[in-house]
Amino acid sequence: MANLANQSVNPGVAAKAGLTLVRSHTTLRLDLVNGPVLANQPIGVMPPMLGAYRVLSLLARGGMGGVYLGEHETTKQRVALKLLAPRWVEHEPIVQRLLEEFEVSRRVGHAGLLQILAAERTADGTPYLVMELLDGENLGDLLDRGAIEPGAVAAIGAQIADAVAAMHEAGIVHCDLKPENVMLLYKDGLAGWPRTKVLDFGVARMAPDVTTEIAGTPGYMAPEQWRGTAEARSDVYALGCTLYQLLTGAAPFEGSIPSLMQSHCDRLPAPPSSRRAVPEMLDRMIMRMLAKDARMRPRMAEVARMLADLAYAMPPGARNDSIRLAISQ
Ligand SMILES: Nc1ncnc2c1ncn2[C@@H]1O[C@H](COP(=O)(O)OP(=O)(O)O)[C@@H](O)[C@H]1O
Ligand SMILES: [Mg+2]
Repeated sequence: MANLANQSVNPGVAAKAGLTLVRSHTTLRLDLVNGPVLANQPIGVMPPMLGAYRVLSLLARGGMGGVYLGEHETTKQRVALKLLAPRWVEHEPIVQRLLEEFEVSRRVGHAGLLQILAAERTADGTPYLVMELLDGENLGDLLDRGAIEPGAVAAIGAQIADAVAAMHEAGIVHCDLKPENVMLLYKDGLAGWPRTKVLDFGVARMAPDVTTEIAGTPGYMAPEQWRGTAEARSDVYALGCTLYQLLTGAAPFEGSIPSLMQSHCDRLPAPPSSRRAVPEMLDRMIMRMLAKDARMRPRMAEVARMLADLAYAMPPGARNDSIRLAISQ
């Protein structure tokens, strides 16, 4: 096992973690009390029913469990159901995290945020969420087919920023923004704009809670988040990494957890324009979002405004073409 303490900004955390290589887009929870908890574990079997919902199919394998397509027995309403994997049922912090996702959704209603309808438990106590069903694709899957045109990136980024700014206004930090946690809906919005929904509030922090947990996804974590002090502008940093990846096809830094920790804390990434042609304003905006010092980053609401201005400057009709092409491939 790598000795993370040698290279870390927080030797106590890293030594407890005792981690070697983990893919950089996997959510990592370093729970200082209970030790490291890694995502991407087996999700268990698909149950036939969850409450009044018939479970029809597996939509996605999440880090903590499965996300299923469900249909209400009588009303036939279709929903998405996120069920915790059996191995985590005894792990109270993880159970609480899942149930709290509902609370986050309840506190902030915004068209750009996934709506969670209920948090329930099965007869044997396994928690699950009933969520609005999103018809689309997460940006991580989209990225598997290549980078996205700058104008579309601005339009997507503006919407994510607008939604997360609403969370910040409600005193909530998302803490895990990344392509896999944003869905691009198949149905366009007005004037051919792509529509997005931010989801996965599994590591979000609600004021005034202070936790001793370091959580997030190593490829997207701001320096202060590595030190366990995530704040609203840590989300700005993570969104900066996400936009960087949408534009160039690769996140600003890649590699093992120790090297990611070091890079995010100490190294300035090459600007997106060094990897492809990018409008100067977008290039500068992303670099400001990636500032090491959180105070030097723009606020989320400012990010939303600037990206919307950029997106509006695009020729109408061309707005969603690069995404539509990517989806239909
Ligand atoms: N409401 C939903 N409708 C459709 N797909 C969803 C929904 N919620 C989650 N997903 C899919 O499931 C994946 C995992 O869900 P997520 O909430 O991110 O769980 P985890 O905490 O395990 O990462 C998402 O990346 C997305 O592709
Ligand atoms: Mg997720």
